Amino acid sequence: MRRGARRWAVVPAAGRGERFGGSRPKQYVPLLGRPVLSWSLAALLAEPSISGVVVALAPGDRRFTRLPEARDPRVRRCAGGARRELSVANALAALEGEARDHDWVLVHDAARPCLHRDDLRALLDEVGDDAVGGLLALPLSDTLKAADARGSSARTLPREGLWRALTPQMIRYGVLRRALALSIERERAVTDEAAAVEALGMRPRLVAGRADNIKVTLPGDRALAAAILAARSKGSAHRPRLRRPRV
Ligand code: C5P
Repeated sequence: MRRGARRWAVVPAAGRGERFGGSRPKQYVPLLGRPVLSWSLAALLAEPSISGVVVALAPGDRRFTRLPEARDPRVRRCAGGARRELSVANALAALEGEARDHDWVLVHDAARPCLHRDDLRALLDEVGDDAVGGLLALPLSDTLKAADARGSSARTLPREGLWRALTPQMIRYGVLRRALALSIERERAVTDEAAAVEALGMRPRLVAGRADNIKVTLPGDRALAAAILAARSKGSAHRPRLRRPRV
């Protein structure tokens, strides 16, 4: 008899974060005293149904072992690749023999430290037992502009039906391995897992997520991520305690 699908997480953390700049990769920039990657991993590890987390690291990364999450028995590491999809493919290969085709893989950016547990729960619940998977995403709310070569606004694009892809992206292990292998073989650049899956003709579900699940990409994003996390911890500290009913 087929056992239930297990859940694995993959965190590609081998990028250099060139748009962010600075002396260290953005996943190691501190936010309220903890590196970005530490927050991202802690959000996944807070979900007890995740059996293991594979983190893809850049060659020579000496920072990872200093994170408290690196000592978690569910966390393991593998070598990252030159592009994001190669890092994810390496992490999937590291699960070979343990993960089955129908198991779930939740791929989450190392640089997305503000994943809220409600979003993670919504993704797990709404993807449910879908044959392919789904991803957190956000319907576009701004007006879209196409720029000309001079950087002026040339056209306004319709935004109906358009979403921004976030992470985690939760895809069946077998589907994701096939999808990434094909993208890599055809040298098709994919910026998220769902793009590789769509190229197989499959349609991952869009699960509406929170706007504060931001990716730390540009220097200003650091202050924003810190403010989001600070507001959240303040909110939970000030949440009124439930009074016990008098009997
Ligand atoms: O550059 P970008 O922000 O799109 O990267 C998204 C995620 O992919 C980051 O967590 C980054 O560390 C990871 N990545 C990777 N290997 C690469 C490039 C990016 O693991 N070669």
